[in-house]
This record gives sequence, structure tokens and C-alpha cells, in this order.
Amino acid sequence: MGQTGRARCVALAYSACVTPSALPDGEPAPYDGALPASAVAEVGTRGLSAYVHVPFCATRCGYCDFNTYTAAELGSAPGASREAYLDAVSREVALARGVLARGVLGDPPPFDTVFFGGGTPTLLDPAEQGGLLAHLRDAFGLAPDAEVSTEANPDSVTLASLAALVEAGFTRISFGMQSSAPHVLRMLERTHTPGRALDAVRWAREAGFSSVSLDLIYGTPTESLDDWRATVEDALTADPDHVSAYSLIVEDGTRFAARVRRGEVPLPDEDDLADKYEVADSLLRQAGLEWYEVSNWARPGHACRHNLAYWRGDDWWGFGPGAHSHVGGVRFWNVKHPRTYAGRLAEGLSPAAGRERLTAEDRRIERVLLELRLREGVPTEVLTESERARLPELVARGFLQEDGNRVSVSDPGRLLADAAVRELLD
Ligand SMILES: C[S@@+](CC[C@H](N)C(=O)[O-])C[C@H]1O[C@@H](n2cnc3c(N)ncnc32)[C@H](O)[C@@H]1O
Ligand code: SF4
Repeated sequence: MGQTGRARCVALAYSACVTPSALPDGEPAPYDGALPASAVAEVGTRGLSAYVHVPFCATRCGYCDFNTYTAAELGSAPGASREAYLDAVSREVALARGVLARGVLGDPPPFDTVFFGGGTPTLLDPAEQGGLLAHLRDAFGLAPDAEVSTEANPDSVTLASLAALVEAGFTRISFGMQSSAPHVLRMLERTHTPGRALDAVRWAREAGFSSVSLDLIYGTPTESLDDWRATVEDALTADPDHVSAYSLIVEDGTRFAARVRRGEVPLPDEDDLADKYEVADSLLRQAGLEWYEVSNWARPGHACRHNLAYWRGDDWWGFGPGAHSHVGGVRFWNVKHPRTYAGRLAEGLSPAAGRERLTAEDRRIERVLLELRLREGVPTEVLTESERARLPELVARGFLQEDGNRVSVSDPGRLLADAAVRELLD
């Protein structure tokens, strides 16, 4: 397999997994948030999840373009306060319940997974996060074995706050560690020390979380291969159940992108990214964490069920400013700014800014794109006849493998998964 473009899929991996900060085009969404009856009829035929977007951060990291705001950016204008946000999300929960109530069946099904992401959800008090979770539980119910996750910045937690989150019903937590090299953390404009993330993992265990994850970033300018190896080894000393490792993406409009444009820092190098991916994969595997998605590794039983629900095309409602949802082949997304979001809900209107109805072919292509990034792959029957005809060549070139009635990326093919999928699709 050639070297050029070796890391292409690793780079693309990140964009497949996060809520983008720019909203897509689409048709306007109705003011009452109503969905087509055909979409609502699908609710309950597969898993249902909730995502809660918490759009607050203490400071903005130079590389991040997520829909998140510092206190200074929000200012003191009414409508952008934490209280307004909490009130607005609870109103959106009530609205979602009404929209998803299914005809004669009445109640929507309970959530199988809930994920508080951001931003920095743990900038809210545990009681505030717990209050939002209670709204979701009261309106929809949670499945008995529901996975309830929160993201956290290591700076924003203590042993006591983590214990309060467990008490409120959170079962899984994911900390942004990124690197253990101080110069890399400085380049990323992270405010915590390397050791803080590892302490946070230990506190999370002591507090009773049943699954603890670390997010790492590789490919930051000035990061050597040894820095990255040391980062993964340090992360493993805390014994996480799950690790996400994403290559640094230079997002337009960020301070980091401006530095690249000015020539102050180089773009991440694709071969360097590929080498770092291989180092991570080998160290994580030795420690008992196996990949289950191209950028995610877990101990048996600790794969993130919420992210798997996205990748398998389940239904989810995204609450909060800029959050995206998918219900029965309709994708919709909320207005971005917390003030606009709270204003819409205070007036009794849906916060949805736009929506898109996926055709059966759109859904099939999305399924192939996402499921081929999973270790389990995609059932061969989902492929068209001409796609199936292309399989033998992609298998011969070492990108894909066929196992009975499923197609998946080969182990070395992971580095080129997205390129292989593009070649496979009609
Ligand atoms: C919402 S943050 C996690 C929680 C918390 N806000 C934090 O940063 O610690 C989600 C993750 O996205 C990843 N991320 C954000 N921007 C990225 C970028 N431009 N390239 C690669 N990873 C990025 C980081 O690994 C970060 O941990
Ligand atoms: S703390 Fe997390 S969400 Fe906030 S700016 Fe940094 S990476 Fe983005």
C-alpha cells in the first residue's frame, strides 16, 4: 500500500463524529417542530438516543470550532445566561416528547443512551446536569441499562463533583486529555496540566463511573513520534476503559488555522499521522483495548453505545443550541446561538433551523460510509450489484475483507478506509 494519502481516513474520521459548527443548508423546519408522520412511525423500530449540547467553555482552545462560547463571548445580555439555557432545554424536552408521541401508541420509547457533549458540560453544576437528565427521564424514561455519558474537561471536575454526577445517574465519562507533552498542550492552548487528566480518570473510578474514556489528539505541530508514544503510554497508566484518538484537524476560522495561514506552524503531515495511528493502535491493543471504530478503542463491553447508535443510523434527538437530530430519515438541526435558541423556546416555538429528508438511497450510502468505519463492517446485501462487483479488487488490494455476508475494512486498510469506501460506492 502506497504511503501517499495513508492518513486520509484518519483525518476524515473526526468530522464524521462531531457536531459541525456550521449549519448545513436545508428546507425550513416547521415552527411547531412537527415531523412527517412516516418519520415518527419509525420511532421505536430501532434505538432512540438523546444528545444534550452544552455550549459553554471556560476558554476556547485554538484548534476547536465547536459551537461553544466563553462567558466573555456571551456577555450579560438576557437570554444567553446559564439559567436561560437550562430553562430552554427543559422546554425542548417537552416539545420533543410531543413530537415523538406516536399516534395510538402514545408514549415515545425510553432513551437507550444519553450523551451530554459540548462545549464543556461539566461547567454546569452536577445538580444542573442532573436536573436536565431528570427532565429527560421524566418525559421519556431511560431504558433499564441506559448508558448515560458526559464529556468533561479535566479542569472542570473534582472528586466530589464526579460523585454527584454518578449520584444523578451518569454512568460514563469522557475526559479531553489530548496530550501528555506540555509543549503540545501549549500549542493546542489547553489550560490543564498533563497529570490533571490522569487524576480525573482515577477520581471518576473512585466516584463510581462504570466506564471512563480519554480523548487524545495526535499530529499537533512540534509533537514528535516519541511525544505521541509517551502520551499513549501515560494515558494507559490511568487504565481507561476507552480511548478516542483523533488527528488534529485544522478547522477554518480557528486561531490555529490563522497561524497555519501565516506560516507560523506547518500543516500536520500525512505520513506522520499514519505512523502515529499505528503506534496508538499497537500500544492500545497490547493494553487490551481493541478498535471498534477507526478512531476508537475499548476494552470488551466498553464501546460507546451512544456513538454506535449514530454510526448505525439509529434515531436521536439533539437538544440544545446547534444540536443535530435524526429521526426516521429526517435530519434536523437547531439554531446555533444560545440566545436565539432560548428566545425561540421562550416564545413556544421549535428551535429547529432547518431539516433535510433523506431518500432511501441517501440512507443506504450513509449506512455504507459509517458502518464501513466499524470493525463489524456492513452487510454485503446493503451494497448494490455494481458495488459488489468492485469488491474483489478492493479485497485484492488489501483495503477490504469479506467475512461470510459482511464486508469490513482490513486491519491495514483502516488507514485508507474512507478512500476505499469512495472507490466502492457507485
Ligand atoms: C467537546 S470536546 C471534549 C470535552 C472538553 N470540551 C474538552 O475539550 O476537554 C470533544 C473533543 O473533540 C476533539 N476535538 C475538537 N476539535 C478538534 C480538532 N480540530 N481536531 C481534532 N480533535 C478535535 C478533542 O479531542 C476534544 O476532546
Ligand atoms: S474545551 Fe473542548 S469544546 Fe471547549 S474549546 Fe476546548 S476542545 Fe473545544
